[in-house]
Amino acid sequence: MPRLAFGGDYNPDQWDRDVWREDVRLMQRAGVNLVSLGIFSWSWIEPEQDRFDFSGLDEVIALLHEGGVAVDLATPSASPPPWFSAEYPDAEFVDHLGRRLGHGSRQGFCPSSPDYRRRTAVVANRLARRYGEHPAVVMWHVGNEIGGYNAHCHCPTSAEAFRHWLRDRHGDLDGLNRAWGTAFWSQRYSDWSQVRIPGATPGRVNPAQQLDHYRFASDELLDCYRTERDVLRRHSPGRPVTTNFMAGTFKWVDYCAWGQEVDLVTNDHYLVAADPEAHTGLAFSADLSRGIAGGRPWLLMEHSTSAVQWQPRNTAKRPGEMLRNSLAHIARGSDGACFFQWRQSDSGVEKWHSAMVPHGGESTRIWQEVVRLGAALRRIGEVAGSTVTGEVALLWDYENWWALELGGRPSVDLEYAAEAEAWHRAVWRQGVVCDVLPADVSAEVLSRYRLVLLPSHYLTTPGTVRALTAYVHGGGHLLVGPFSGLVDRDDRLHPGPFPGALRDLLGLTVDEFLPLREGAALTLDDGLTGRVWAEAVHPDGPDGAHGPEDPDGVDDKHGTVVDARFADGPAAGGPALLRRRAGAGLVRYAATRFEDSSLRTLLAGALDEAGVRSTAPGAGDGVEVVRRTAEDGRSWLFVLNHTDDAAEVACRGVELLSNATVTGLLTVAAGEVAVVRESGTSDVG
Ligand code: GLA
Repeated sequence: MPRLAFGGDYNPDQWDRDVWREDVRLMQRAGVNLVSLGIFSWSWIEPEQDRFDFSGLDEVIALLHEGGVAVDLATPSASPPPWFSAEYPDAEFVDHLGRRLGHGSRQGFCPSSPDYRRRTAVVANRLARRYGEHPAVVMWHVGNEIGGYNAHCHCPTSAEAFRHWLRDRHGDLDGLNRAWGTAFWSQRYSDWSQVRIPGATPGRVNPAQQLDHYRFASDELLDCYRTERDVLRRHSPGRPVTTNFMAGTFKWVDYCAWGQEVDLVTNDHYLVAADPEAHTGLAFSADLSRGIAGGRPWLLMEHSTSAVQWQPRNTAKRPGEMLRNSLAHIARGSDGACFFQWRQSDSGVEKWHSAMVPHGGESTRIWQEVVRLGAALRRIGEVAGSTVTGEVALLWDYENWWALELGGRPSVDLEYAAEAEAWHRAVWRQGVVCDVLPADVSAEVLSRYRLVLLPSHYLTTPGTVRALTAYVHGGGHLLVGPFSGLVDRDDRLHPGPFPGALRDLLGLTVDEFLPLREGAALTLDDGLTGRVWAEAVHPDGPDGAHGPEDPDGVDDKHGTVVDARFADGPAAGGPALLRRRAGAGLVRYAATRFEDSSLRTLLAGALDEAGVRSTAPGAGDGVEVVRRTAEDGRSWLFVLNHTDDAAEVACRGVELLSNATVTGLLTVAAGEVAVVRESGTSDVG
């Protein structure tokens, strides 16, 4: 593997042979060292069932190898060819209305189809046996963004697989009936054949059934991945196998669970063009990728050189923005920056999507910036393998994303990912790195953090409660958002008053949830502004005595303290922000969701109280500063100036892009980036 990977998806089957040679020449010019090859090449290498033709792929791999470009070889399972649908019509994808969706796009298959699994294993086998020892092939790329379009298939095969999965999970029908709470609305099952995938129904679907279906679907996709991975490992031992995630932006795959299954976590990220601060969403996705990777380096498998073609308004990146984006991912632990795609298509669905080689070729701004990026990555190659560690952790959980946003909740404005991102953004704005960790984290891992954030953690397991309690009692600070601690994994309420599983730790009782009308706001008596939500809360008294609020208050040592009250809104006069000492630590609870600026104030206070400082105090709003550190003690400061003004950051060392010595104050021009090897550390790598 190259030190820092640089390249993109390479789809040579779109082009004639002479273009392949030109591609390798241009890759060498730009310093490309890794391409993901053949992601959608099934019909190229197997034009008819069991008739394989690897001549094109042989030639391309040989050319790349001669040119010094390593290959991340893909299995083509993301896009079965038309012959597959013709041969196996039962393997086609069926949507929630029971409509069979045909080919002509990609991912038009049922993930539970035995025919699909068998045929993908056949292709993977042929590829691995042919290229598994090829010196150019350094990594395997299974499928592409698995489940992106077809996570929830509703065909009879899927339904049967769902029933098997449910038997494993719940044992027998009694277990299933209990877990799903089928006593309500007369939903008791008396035979397995009655159990269905929740599809179109006249009214709302049983939420526990829905949750199980989401879990099942993620597991089925994982089985598809494993089927191919195991074939690849058998015939190509020693080469890492991965598949590209969409961390934080794609809801239907539990990447936290999948993290254990890949040899290297890889991620795709595309900016939301309509968001002027999309770089904070980028930071969230990158920090989550690192969390899924257990803090180890990961790889940015795809981003775009400029515009995409699939959003409503596909704005181009501004000059310098691509370099900033790429380095922001690397700052947050990616060991490289790769793109979709190498050469811009001249036909097909994605011809208006930017690429490394644009339609206009070498004279274009984008190409010049690609060449500049390649040079930059060579200059900072020494950062590869180093890691990033935050002092703040935000706990993230796919099951919570699913459960919180099921229908039949107090408010549709309670959105899981948006709220988590808002909290993360507020920390980003304080110049602090926030690790985003899978929520089933151990107390031992948590103990490395000064502050842990738990925004709206509705579905709460005993393990999470134990870890959080041990963390707080050991001296940690915890901030919990509203509508947390309420249900178990079957969406059944935890016993006792709200907030159920977190009540003892938080030392408070919620009487009632009081969502606001659309767009409404409320104020707190300390001037902060809330939105979406309020709760009627009582602090619990000394020694954990639960009950109505004692107007004389409880002191810091013995009970829960009210820091701020609702000044208006449905819970006017009641507590809005509460705090309690527990063991050596501190827990805080927010009974509303906050406007962005108030959230920033709240989190600035929590960071301060926990003793967390900005990586570069005084760097200014919109200036992102992140440190990567190597085991041998070397460290690098990445400075990304997202503003239209020059920024100054105090540091010492060598700025690697310019090779300039920095003796105390680094100036980074508007929109520019800098990477400083901090002094006292030298390139021994
Ligand atoms: C995804 C896919 C790519 C391509 C890009 C376009 O990331 O993996 O094949 O379609 O989107 O942005």
